[in-house]
Amino acid sequence: MQTDLRGRDLITDQEWTREEVDTLLDVAWDLKRRRATGESQALLRDKVLAMLFFFTSTRTRASFEAGIAQLGGHGMFIDSETTQISHGDTAKEIGEIIGRYSDGIAIRQCDWNFGNKYIREVAAASRVPVLNMQCDVYHPFQALADLMTIMEKFGRDLRGKTINVSWAYASSYQKPLSVPQSLILLMTRYGMNVRLTHPPEFGLMPDIVGQAQDNVRKHGGSLEILHDFDAGFKDADVLYPKSWGCWMTTEDKQESAKLGGQYKDWITDARRMALAKRDAVYMHCLPADRNIEVTDEVIDGPQSVVYDEAENRLHVQKAAMALTMR
Ligand code: CP
Repeated sequence: MQTDLRGRDLITDQEWTREEVDTLLDVAWDLKRRRATGESQALLRDKVLAMLFFFTSTRTRASFEAGIAQLGGHGMFIDSETTQISHGDTAKEIGEIIGRYSDGIAIRQCDWNFGNKYIREVAAASRVPVLNMQCDVYHPFQALADLMTIMEKFGRDLRGKTINVSWAYASSYQKPLSVPQSLILLMTRYGMNVRLTHPPEFGLMPDIVGQAQDNVRKHGGSLEILHDFDAGFKDADVLYPKSWGCWMTTEDKQESAKLGGQYKDWITDARRMALAKRDAVYMHCLPADRNIEVTDEVIDGPQSVVYDEAENRLHVQKAAMALTMR
């Protein structure tokens, strides 16, 4: 078990070894148990987590803020629009200055071709660990919560299990690639058979797909790319259909909406769920476009584990804070 994680950034799970991720999961389960039994979890008394948001959030903000409070510390919410960040504070200044006020900096910056670079620039200037609350490339805590949830449903040895990470149609906005990218990176390190299903225009970053292929060579399992929505469901154990933008094809919102509009029938419904294994689970990071990405019947149905998944965000983030900010 690797436990020397004090001061470490978590920008992508890929930069943590398998043993380090396993440690994080062990701590997450311990903290989940302690919360259930009412035991003290005050591991970060008097510590401050700065939470800098450039983008809206429900789960990420609420779970980080609740998490640091449960650990005995304080969450300091910083909104880019209502601070001098909108008038020119640089990433370096944020790292230097907020790093002197706090014990950890968590950032959500999803702007295409910018967010990850920004977070890395802050991290380079910061004396305290930087945690990625989602950027244009990665959503590491979502993938960790998803892995924890899958293990709770299927056991810790996931070799031989199939996850279908699929695109789905949504009308709301051009969503980042970060969730599917973090999922294919993490699940291929646990020996799963990973299906990546999307229309041809909605591919992921080639470098990320390449890293996932390297993971398969190291850890077994497989990575298969499909362009047929129904085929992705067939005999899968875990179904994770969600929308993302066609960033690799166009950054133009109108063109993206037009391209996506060709695939309005990529909605998860009961017929498609029946193509998967009988005990398959339906997952979604939320928010979902209800009755566009997925029917109410499925997301509210017995195979859906979306609320367990959302809860596990709290536990993995507390584990990461306890390990890196102590
Ligand atoms: N899944 C997720 O990150 O949710 P929020 O955008 O509400 O934080």
